[in-house]
Amino acid sequence: MDHHGTTITQFISEEQRKAPGATGEFTALLNDIVTACKMISNQVNHGALVGALGSAGSENVQGETQKKLDVLSNEMFISCNEWAGHLAAMASEEMDDVYQIPDQYPRGKYLITFDPLDGSSNIDVNVSVGTIFSILRCPGGVERPTERDFLQAGTQQVAAGYALYGPSTMMVLTTGHGVNGFTLDQNIGEFILTHPDMTIPADTAEFAINASNGRFWEAPVKRYVDECLAGKEGPREKDFNMRWIASMVAEVHRILTRGGVFMYPMDSKMATKGLGGKLRLLYEANPMSFIVEQAGGGSITGRQRIMDLQPESLHQRVPVILGSRNEVERIQGYHADA
Ligand code: AHG
Ligand code: MN
Ligand code: MN
Repeated sequence: MDHHGTTITQFISEEQRKAPGATGEFTALLNDIVTACKMISNQVNHGALVGALGSAGSENVQGETQKKLDVLSNEMFISCNEWAGHLAAMASEEMDDVYQIPDQYPRGKYLITFDPLDGSSNIDVNVSVGTIFSILRCPGGVERPTERDFLQAGTQQVAAGYALYGPSTMMVLTTGHGVNGFTLDQNIGEFILTHPDMTIPADTAEFAINASNGRFWEAPVKRYVDECLAGKEGPREKDFNMRWIASMVAEVHRILTRGGVFMYPMDSKMATKGLGGKLRLLYEANPMSFIVEQAGGGSITGRQRIMDLQPESLHQRVPVILGSRNEVERIQGYHADA
C-alpha cells in the first residue's frame, strides 16, 4: 500500500490501533469530517459555475455578513456529521447556539467545534479559504450538551485539524502525536499522506499581521513589528519579509511549511467595542494552537498560552500570536517587559 500512498483513513486507523481499547469510533468520526471537507472543497472549486459566490444576505451571531459559502459549508458540515452517532452536539462560528443532534439519530461521546469556512472575505476573489475543527470529549453523564459542556481548555482537545482549499486541497491533522498533512487526489477522491511529521522551524524572518490596524496595537506588538521593519540596520540585524492572506488557515499552513509568525493581537479598536480579540477561541485559536504546538511552534495571546485559557463563552474572541517558537517567545517577553 505504501508504494501507492497512504490514505488518511488508513493512517488514522493505524494510529488509533496503537491506542489501547480503541473502538474505531474516532476513526469513523474523522472519516465523516473528511467527507464534509471534500464536499465543501467541491463547492469552493466550482465557485461561480454553481452560483456559490457572493453574500447570503444574513448576519451571524458576531454581526458579520455571511457569504453563501459560509452558510452552505456549515450545512454540509452538519449533514455529514450528525447522523452517524459519534457526536453528542456541535458548535459552529456560523450558529448562535449549540447544535443538538436530531432525535432520529443516536448520540455519541464527542463534541465538535468548527469554523466551516475560514477566510471567507477571500471567496469572491478566488483566494485560499479553509475549514477548521476541534474535537472534544463530551463530559460524562451529559445527555443534552449545553454551552457549558463546550467550555473546555484547548489542552483538553482530542484532535484538531483544518482543510485548506488552495491550489490543491489539503487536510492537516493532529491527534496529539505530531502533525501530518494529506493532499486530496481529485481523481480517486482520497486524501493521501504527502506531508508526514510537519514541523515549524524555531527561527524565521517572516511575519504576518494586518498592518492597517497599526495605530491601534499595544506597545509590545508595535515594538516587535517596528524592529522587524528596521531590518538589517535595526536591533534584529536582519531583514524581514511580510505576508497577509486574511485567511488564518492559509497563514498557518504557510507557517507549518516554512516557518513564520502570525499575529491578530489585541488592539484598542476592538477593546472599545468590548471584544477580546478578532479570532474565536473555540473555532479558530484553540485548534490552530494545538496544531502549531504539536509542530513545535508556540501560540499565545501575548500574555499567556492560548491552550491554557478557560473559555468563558461559546463565541469568545482572543488575541492570537503563533508560529516559530523563538519569535513567539520574544513577543511574549516584550509583553512581560511592558
Ligand atoms: P472568518 O472568515 O471565519 O470570519 O475568519 C477570518 C479571520 C481570519 O481567518 C483572518 O486571519 C482574519 O479574520 C482576517 O482579518 P482582516 O479582515 O482584518 O484582514
Ligand atoms: Mn475564521
Ligand atoms: Mn468562518
